[in-house]
Amino acid sequence: MTNETNRAWTMASRPVGEPTPKNFALKESDIPEPKHGEVLIKTLYLSLDPYMRGRMRSGPSYATVLEPGDVMTGEVVARVQKSESPLYKAGDIIRSSIGWQEYAIVSAHTVKRIDPDLGPISTAVGILGMPGMTAYFGLLAVLKPRAGDTLVVSAASGAVGAVVGQIGKINGCKVIGVAGTDEKCSYVVNELGFDSAINYKTENVSQKLVQIAPNGVDCYFDNVGGPVSDAVFENLALKSRVAICGQISQYNAAEPPQGPRNMAALIRTRTTVEGFLVYDFELQHEVARGRIAEWIKQGRLKYMEDVVDGFENAPEAFIGLLNGKNFGKLLIKVAE
Ligand SMILES: NC(=O)c1ccc[n+]([C@@H]2O[C@H](COP(=O)([O-])OP(=O)(O)OC[C@H]3O[C@@H](n4cnc5c(N)ncnc54)[C@H](OP(=O)(O)O)[C@@H]3O)[C@@H](O)[C@H]2O)c1
Repeated sequence: MTNETNRAWTMASRPVGEPTPKNFALKESDIPEPKHGEVLIKTLYLSLDPYMRGRMRSGPSYATVLEPGDVMTGEVVARVQKSESPLYKAGDIIRSSIGWQEYAIVSAHTVKRIDPDLGPISTAVGILGMPGMTAYFGLLAVLKPRAGDTLVVSAASGAVGAVVGQIGKINGCKVIGVAGTDEKCSYVVNELGFDSAINYKTENVSQKLVQIAPNGVDCYFDNVGGPVSDAVFENLALKSRVAICGQISQYNAAEPPQGPRNMAALIRTRTTVEGFLVYDFELQHEVARGRIAEWIKQGRLKYMEDVVDGFENAPEAFIGLLNGKNFGKLLIKVAE
C-alpha cells in the first residue's frame, strides 16, 4: 500500500428533485498496490457532466444507475503512478472512467492514452473528449446541416453547445444560440462568431425567432428541452431536423414530465426528430478528435473551461452545473 489515502465522493442518498450536498458523502480508503496487468492512477482533472444526474435516478436508463454508497460516475484525466503492465509507465497521462475519486487501480486495457500534442490534457474530457464528440456527431451525422441553413442550439455557451455553434459556422450555417445570461449570449456572438443569441430568461424566445429567423429554423440541436424547445418547435421550417441531445431542464424533475408537447407543429413542417448518444459513433471518435484538434490549431474553434479547484468542491460545482452556474466546460482540478 502507498502512504497516501484515497478520497471518493459517493452518492449517499438518491436525490428527489434538485440534489443537495447531503446526497453526497466523502469516503476515505487505503490505496492498494497494482497487480499484474494493472496500473495505479492519480486523478488530475475530474470532468463534471449533466448525465451524472441521470445516473443518480432509479428507473430505466441506457446505463447502469447508482445505488446509495456507490462512487459517483465520471471520467478523469489522470497520471499513471505505478504500472504493472507493459502498456503504460509511471508518468503517462491517460483518461479513465473511475468516477469521482483521487486514485484507482484499473486494468491497463481499460484506460485511454491522451495525446498531449492534440491540446492541453484537460481538453481530453472536454472539447477533445466526450462533449466535443457529442457536438461533432450530433451536428454532422444527425442534423446534417447544409450551407445556408438556420441552426439553433440551446445551452449554447456550454461544453457541447459552444462547439455545435462553431462547427455550424464552419459549415456555412446561420447560427443562433440560446443561453441563460447576457454574458453567455455576448460570448457566443462576440467570441465564438454565432450570428445571434437569445437570453431565454429575459426574452421571449419564440417571438425573437420570428424576427431573426423569418424563414424558420432548419436545424435544432436540443440540449435542454422544456419551454426553450417549445419555443423553437413553434418556429421550425419545412423539412427541418431536430437532434435530441439532452433535456437538462428536466433532469431535476421529481416526476417525469408529461408529454410529448407541441407535436402538432411537426406535422405541418414534416420535421424529423432523432435522439442520439455520443457512443453511437464511438468507432469514428478518433477521426473527429483529430479534426477538432486541427480546427483549434487553425483558430477556427475556441473553447472555454470553467475550472474549480479542489476535489472537495465537486458536489457544489455539480449542483451549480444543473442550475447554469458554469460558464464553459466544467472541470474539477484535483492535483497538479
Ligand atoms: N446525447 C449524448 O450523448 C450527450 C452527451 C453529452 C451531453 N449531453 C447533453 O448535452 C447537454 C449539454 O451538456 P454540456 O456538458 O454541454 O453542459 P453545459 O452546457 O456545459 O452545462 C449545462 C448548461 O445547461 C443550461 N441549463 C441548465 N438548466 C437549464 C434549464 N432549465 N433550461 C435551459 N438550460 C438549462 C445551463 O446554461 P444556461 O445558463 O444557458 O441555462 C448550464 O450551464 C446536456 O443536456 C447533456 O445531458 C448529451
